[in-house]
Amino acid sequence: MEQCTIREVNRHAGHTVRIGCWLYNKRSSGKIQFLQLRDGTGFIQAVVVKSEVSEPVWEAAAKLTQESSLYVTGEVREDARSQSGYELTVSGIETIQISEDYPITPKEHGVDYLMDHRHLWLRSPRQRAIMVIRAQIIRAIQGYFDEHGFTLVDPPILTPSSCEGTTNLFHTKYFDEDAYLTQSGQLYMEAAAMALGKVYSFGPTFRAEKSKTRRHLIEFWMIEPEMAFVDHEQSLVIQEQFVSHVVQSVVANCRKELETLGRDVSKLESVRAPFPRITYDDAVKLLQERGHAFTWGEDFGAPHETEIAQQFDKPVFITHYPASFKAFYMKPKPDRPEVVLCADLIAPEGYGEIIGGSQRIDDPVLIEQRFKEHELGEDAYRWYLDLRKYGTVPHSGFGLGLERTVAWICGLEHVRETIPFPRLLNRLYP
Ligand code: 4AD
Ligand code: MG
Repeated sequence: MEQCTIREVNRHAGHTVRIGCWLYNKRSSGKIQFLQLRDGTGFIQAVVVKSEVSEPVWEAAAKLTQESSLYVTGEVREDARSQSGYELTVSGIETIQISEDYPITPKEHGVDYLMDHRHLWLRSPRQRAIMVIRAQIIRAIQGYFDEHGFTLVDPPILTPSSCEGTTNLFHTKYFDEDAYLTQSGQLYMEAAAMALGKVYSFGPTFRAEKSKTRRHLIEFWMIEPEMAFVDHEQSLVIQEQFVSHVVQSVVANCRKELETLGRDVSKLESVRAPFPRITYDDAVKLLQERGHAFTWGEDFGAPHETEIAQQFDKPVFITHYPASFKAFYMKPKPDRPEVVLCADLIAPEGYGEIIGGSQRIDDPVLIEQRFKEHELGEDAYRWYLDLRKYGTVPHSGFGLGLERTVAWICGLEHVRETIPFPRLLNRLYP
């Protein structure tokens, strides 16, 4: 008899298999017990018929409680009515452990309670579906860059300087020196692009943001491609192709999980390149026409982004923001230096900014000037200035926030469900 997973039962129709699993739920009609089983790969119903099993097997089934662990033995039968397409006719049960007083019951629990029990909450069908989609998104991201001539490069996590401003740095001691957890690997990826051409990183980033919103995590994962000899316009084309690829790969490979989440798949199916573009100037006019008191030079907040995104059914690039509130490394537009060659990609349906990117300053004089204006200590950044001294070239890059992308594709209210163990303001447990 073969041991298999629930995902694999389709290969064993008509045969008896043994599956390691947990009891998710149970119904009984007196003569028949219906066990809802899960093993991480899927869910299956196992039927125990009193007249067809031995007394000890019937008793073992009767004793099973929610989240008890067991090996079940039974014959795989095709069953068009069941979600998996198969059912198990039980002939044997080996109980591993009877689970007592499992704290998450099918009744509604508050979010704080569920977050305190995140280590168990992950077992629910909905949380499982999110983790499966997250893994598919990661696979699609790596697949896209690996197939398009990018080399994976890992920037450091402990750094002596900041990339995205000094206000939300996590400080730590590095022996006798000060160090910070990385906010973005970008500056290192620029060095890597000068060595390898087209590169991307995929790693955790940390921002000590005191904001408690449904889009902010303290620890999140970012994908940061950086490309030599690629300008702002060329970078946008790569971004839209990349994002379309990721969304369509989830649509193609995660039908069941999207269904579990109740996601409207038609909204995802239309996400195909090219994406619409709107300049910051036009976005400001659009907001003013719709009654927002907004002046040129301010940064958009979440309600502004949502209002702009609502005009489109695909993600939209907002381009050419004022230099005044953007990062020091962004290249000014040559004919209008008060704006920069940058774009944020705003997801539809109110999910907000998923990508921030720009062409980088390649001029050695201008980059030095920016360092002075932004009062960046030259010591920590000396190596970065070298990149503009020894064979500087036009180059661009961007950063995709993994969790915001997962929230959008899964259709989730809050980013806290997009990562196995979220780090939030006031939450470091479990
Ligand atoms: O726009 P950001 O700050 O850009 C950078 O860090 C650039 N250095 C990237 C680059 O060009 N290589 O962050 C990029 C993305 C955002 O668009 C957002 O999706 C995500 O990272 N992000 C967050 N996600 C969750 N929680 C937070 N606190 C986030 N902050 C940024
Ligand atoms: Mg940004």
